[in-house]
Amino acid sequence: MPASVVLGAQWGDEGKGKAIDQLAAESSWAVRFQGGNNAGHTIVLGDTTLKLHQIPSGVTSTSCNLVLGDGMVIDPWVLEEELDRWYNLTKERPEGKRLFISERAAVILPFHKLYDSADKVVGTTGRGIGPAYRDRIERVGIRFVDIPFLIEDSDKIEETVDRMNKQLDSVGVLERIEVISFKSQLRWILERYGDSIKHTGSMIDIALKNGENVLLEGAQGAMLDIDQGTYPFVTSSVTSRANATHGAGIHPGHVTNCFGISKAYTTRVGNGPFPTELPYDEGPGQHMAMVGHEFGTTTGRPRRTGWLDMVSLSDSHRVNGYTGIVLTKLDVLGGLEELNICTKYDLEGKLIDYMPTSCEELALCKPVYETHPGFPALSEQEWIEMAEIAREGKEGFNVLPETALSYVRRIEELSGIPIVSIGVGPDRKASIASLGGPFDVDPEVATF
Ligand code: IMP
Repeated sequence: MPASVVLGAQWGDEGKGKAIDQLAAESSWAVRFQGGNNAGHTIVLGDTTLKLHQIPSGVTSTSCNLVLGDGMVIDPWVLEEELDRWYNLTKERPEGKRLFISERAAVILPFHKLYDSADKVVGTTGRGIGPAYRDRIERVGIRFVDIPFLIEDSDKIEETVDRMNKQLDSVGVLERIEVISFKSQLRWILERYGDSIKHTGSMIDIALKNGENVLLEGAQGAMLDIDQGTYPFVTSSVTSRANATHGAGIHPGHVTNCFGISKAYTTRVGNGPFPTELPYDEGPGQHMAMVGHEFGTTTGRPRRTGWLDMVSLSDSHRVNGYTGIVLTKLDVLGGLEELNICTKYDLEGKLIDYMPTSCEELALCKPVYETHPGFPALSEQEWIEMAEIAREGKEGFNVLPETALSYVRRIEELSGIPIVSIGVGPDRKASIASLGGPFDVDPEVATF
C-alpha cells in the first residue's frame, strides 16, 4: 500500500490521533505536511496522557519513522518540550534517528507569536501560525535550511530584526526583538536539531519506491482550509488532500486511500459561522461538551458544539474525495433522546445543499434537520466490551444498539462514503472497524 492520507473532515479536533495511531502500526513513515503547533493530539500510553502538537501521532508505533514535512511551520522551542516529554515517558530520543525535520519547513520565531497575539478577529491559537505562513508567502520567512547562511550574514540579520520590529510596532505590540538574542536563538536551533534536518521529501520518495507504507497526517480540518474553508475564520494552510503530498514533497499519484475523520456530531473552536451550533449551557449542546470533554488540546478553550452537518461534510468530501470515513465519539451521543442530522440549509427561505462561500451568508443559514431516535448511554467499559465482541466475533457494526446502527447507516447513505471505523471511547481498544476494512487490525500491535 503506498501513501494514505488522514484528514479532519470538519473544523478540526475530530480525534485524528487515534485513527493515525491505528494506521501507523502498519506504516513505516508518518508525515505531518502542514500546520504547526496549533494542532494538538492526545496520546494515551498506559496510565499516562501525553499532549503532542508537532510530533506526528505515529510516534507511538515503534517502527514508524516520523517527518515534520516541507509544508509545516515549526516552533523549535515547543518541539523541544514535546521531545523532552516523550523522553521522560519512554526514554527514547527519536530526533535524528527516526524523527526528521524538513529543510524546507519554516521556523516559527518569537516574533511570529508576538505578532499573532494582536489577532482580534479570527480567534487564532496564538501560536504564530498565520504570521509564519505570511512571511513564507512574502518570501522573507526562514526555513530550517536557511539558518546556517543567515547566521553568517549580519546585514541580513539586522534587516530581518528591523522588519520584525516595525511590524510589531504597526499592530501595537510593545515587545522588541534584539539582534543578539535573535542570533543566539538561530544558533541554538542549529545545535539542537542539526542532525535531524534533512531533505525529507527524498527520504519519503525512496521509502515509497521500496514499497513501504506512508501515512500523511493532516492537522486542523477541511473547514479550516485557507482556500476551501470558512474564510477568514480558517487556519493559514491548505489542510486538504491536495496538499498532503505536496507538503510532504512527493507526488499525488502515490495516494490510494484518503480517510476523513468526522465526529458523530460537530465541534468548532475559535470564531466563525457554525450553522448547526447548539447552546453550550443546556440540552444536547451541553451534553456533547460535557460527555465529550470538548476542550481544545492546544489552548484549553471550550469547543462550540452542534449536530452533525451533512452539508459541510459533503463539501469537505467534494474537495478531498474520502475513500472512507472514520466516525469518532459515537458513544458521546448515548443518552440523548433524539439525534438530529442537518441535511440542508435554509438560506432566507431557499433550501440549499452547499455551504455559501461568504461567511455573512453562511451565518444566515438555518439547519434543516431530520430526526432519529437516540440510543442509551453506556459506560466506557461497556463500549470496550462491545468493540471486543465486534472484533473477536467478526460482527463489525452489527454489535451497535439498533438505533445507533441506523444513525450510522444514514450517515453513509447521505454522504455516499463508507464508514470504515467507529470510535466509541478514548481507549485504543474502543473502536469498531468495518469487517475486512483498513481498520480491521489488531489494536495491540507494535506500539509503545
Ligand atoms: P491558527 O491556526 O492559530 O491561526 O487559528 C485559526 C483558526 O483555526 C482558529 O479559529 C483556531 O481555533 C482554529 N484552529 C487552529 N488549529 C486548530 C486545531 O488543531 N483544531 C481546531 N481548530 C483549530
